[in-house]
Amino acid sequence: MILAGRRVVLGVSGGIACYKACTIARRLTEMGAAVDVVLTSSAGRFVGPATFEALTHRPVFTSLWERDTTLAHLELGQNADLIVLAPATANLIARAAQGIADDILTAMLLARTAPVLVAPAMNDEMFAHPATQKNLETIRGMGWSVVGPEIGPLAEGASDRPGRMTEPEAIVAAAERKIRAPGGALAGKRVVVTAGPTREGLDPVRVFTNRSSGRMGYAVAAAAYGRGADVTLVSGPTTLPIPFGVDVVTVETTADLQEAVATALADADVLVMAAAPADYRPQEERQDKRPRGDGPVDVRLEPTIDVLETTRSKRKKGSVIVGFALETSEGVQRARGKLDRKGLDLIVLNMANETGAGFDVETNRVTLISRTDTVQLPQMSKHEVAERLLDAVELLP
Ligand code: CTP
Repeated sequence: MILAGRRVVLGVSGGIACYKACTIARRLTEMGAAVDVVLTSSAGRFVGPATFEALTHRPVFTSLWERDTTLAHLELGQNADLIVLAPATANLIARAAQGIADDILTAMLLARTAPVLVAPAMNDEMFAHPATQKNLETIRGMGWSVVGPEIGPLAEGASDRPGRMTEPEAIVAAAERKIRAPGGALAGKRVVVTAGPTREGLDPVRVFTNRSSGRMGYAVAAAAYGRGADVTLVSGPTTLPIPFGVDVVTVETTADLQEAVATALADADVLVMAAAPADYRPQEERQDKRPRGDGPVDVRLEPTIDVLETTRSKRKKGSVIVGFALETSEGVQRARGKLDRKGLDLIVLNMANETGAGFDVETNRVTLISRTDTVQLPQMSKHEVAERLLDAVELLP
């Protein structure tokens, strides 16, 4: 659990986005953090303390005047790794900016020493108001981080201006980064991750591709962001949501992938080549769609370029290069061969014929092979594999 032993205060103020704060509380708890929820009185009208208590397994703070919590407004914000304000209404941001301390949440904010991450959520007019903008400037000036708001549907209807709270998953990703990055080995490093399949055209309609879903590479990109890296994700066609905070370059063919990797590699400290590039492509791409009625067709396939191989001369000195190997037999031996042949520091082996591993599933069972070690991991989620992989990268000599 990547946030085990960490303390987060989740300050919730009264807006309709309160219901999404439940997801934030739940996710952070699942990640191992002790989450103390502090509600304003308006927030308590949207979602009651019982809901947050059930999600966090901890008491919820609603007032300065509760018994046994005499110093909660001081203790909470001084012992947390992070304070997350989500949703942060215009009113909460205004009170925080002015140093008003008229309830437990704002009193805590005035006394806090922990860093603060703010996720504003309000009507678009309220957000655009000069007073709100000035207050946001003030809290940024105090060193607080602000995530969002986004353009999207508001409770009162559609809008083409910012106001909608950033989605809970993205707020959790930003929170994880603020908690984990300080002192982490990947903080400030440039990490390039490739993901997904590529596809090679046969004609304007038909393509050759493979079963890669992109999940493994997307999980590595998200995990690297969580550790404070600047992440570029070079992605073949997938249907996955783009991880928060990550720059994405989309590609179609293996040749596109090669070009995008060559560009991104110039200042990369780490390359994780999780993509499954199409290994073969039709020798010629037809201009017209061939009708099925024309009967059987012979297609001659030629091998595509080996992207990792071509990166050799472009790698920054001291950079770490991680490849993947998907094998059906003699896994460790073949993966070691690729480690040597492609000049890699680490290779992640998965066996295509094992259940719960490989393409298009949520889990994976991998062996991490470096020049000196072979470590077989049990079946785990691709997100956990991503964490273990980055642990190994951080530990490489
Ligand atoms: N790879 C690459 N360029 C390709 C094919 C694969 O850079 N055209 C990368 C993959 O992203 C992976 C590693 O090389 O990190 C190993 O991929 P794999 O398909 O297992 O190896 P191949 O080199 O294609 O070897 P083979 O087909 O002989 O198993």
